[in-house]
Amino acid sequence: MKGFDGSNLKFGYNKTDFNVRCEYKDGKWGDIQVSDSEMIPLHMAATCLHYGQEAFEGLKAYRGKDDKVRIFRMDKNAERLQSTCRGMMMPEVPTELFCEMVTKVVTLNAKWVPDYGSGATLYIRPLLIGTSAQVGVHPASEYLLLMFVTPVGPYFKGGFSTNPYMVTRQYDRSAPLGTGIYKVGGNYGASMKANDLAHKMGYSCEFYLDAKEKKYIDECGAANFFGIKDNTYVTPKSTSILPSITNLSLQQLAEDLGMRVECRQVPIEELETFEEAGACGTAAVISPIERIDDVEMNKTYVLSKDGKPGPICTKLYETLTGIQFGDIEDTHNWVTVLDI
Ligand code: PLP
Ligand code: COI
Repeated sequence: MKGFDGSNLKFGYNKTDFNVRCEYKDGKWGDIQVSDSEMIPLHMAATCLHYGQEAFEGLKAYRGKDDKVRIFRMDKNAERLQSTCRGMMMPEVPTELFCEMVTKVVTLNAKWVPDYGSGATLYIRPLLIGTSAQVGVHPASEYLLLMFVTPVGPYFKGGFSTNPYMVTRQYDRSAPLGTGIYKVGGNYGASMKANDLAHKMGYSCEFYLDAKEKKYIDECGAANFFGIKDNTYVTPKSTSILPSITNLSLQQLAEDLGMRVECRQVPIEELETFEEAGACGTAAVISPIERIDDVEMNKTYVLSKDGKPGPICTKLYETLTGIQFGDIEDTHNWVTVLDI
């Protein structure tokens, strides 16, 4: 056992040994620096502070039975960060630099990748911020890319168990042509009131409809939605949701299991027809949905009759986590294996 016992971990920040940094200056990325400080020196007029010129990513490293560490689909996180960079007028981070920094920060903190068996993992948080001063609303000329790691347990209470969700009609996290497709802090700031309301009302998470018509499903807090019916995996197509790498992977696994996959607008009423449903994401993994309450419309959609995860959610969960922890063959080449 090369890691540590992560069975009591919650999803949160835990200090580790090192982070890695790279600065963008004079139109180019510099060398990768290693730091043991949790602090960043920052100009008070930095664009990230005033105008939200920042982006982040989230991915995980998993320790297997063989003690090796596996990083899941980091090239996809690099691609998504590049898309966010284009959307926020920040310099794109090359995939090679991104993957080198992820590998380095995991390797430097190898002892913080929890041991196999507890379900705990090492969450990797890349952060890109505009650091140079601006007072007019313009992009910065200098940037910092930083990556830290933190060992984490389950994002939702109970790990792989069903949870209730609440439709939010009072708040939107993003606009139809806004920044919802990018992983930027502003979307999460905009989600805090809805999330707080959902928690205060006893729900696990808020559930968003499309901001324009409030007719179609968008996503579940910081996770995408999928529903299962008639051997089909259905997931919303929308211009205001984050393209989830977990969802993309589940679509492939559903196809591998002989299911059809539909990525299209999903009217809220269609919730009545699903046999099972789940929220999916790096942090959430798959969080099967027990029910979704549309409180203002006085309507409840039940997605698990016995309160337990359904068979398809369970199969998808076992297959995905099996690949991530190295228990199931990685036929799609999703995993980077590190012997650390
Ligand atoms: N949707 C939102 C708003 C998120 O923050 C996340 C988390 O990253 C996801 C969906 C799931 O995306 P992924 O599977 O790439 O983690
Ligand atoms: C993730 O799943 O990586 C997320 O981004 C969730 C997070 C905002 C805590």
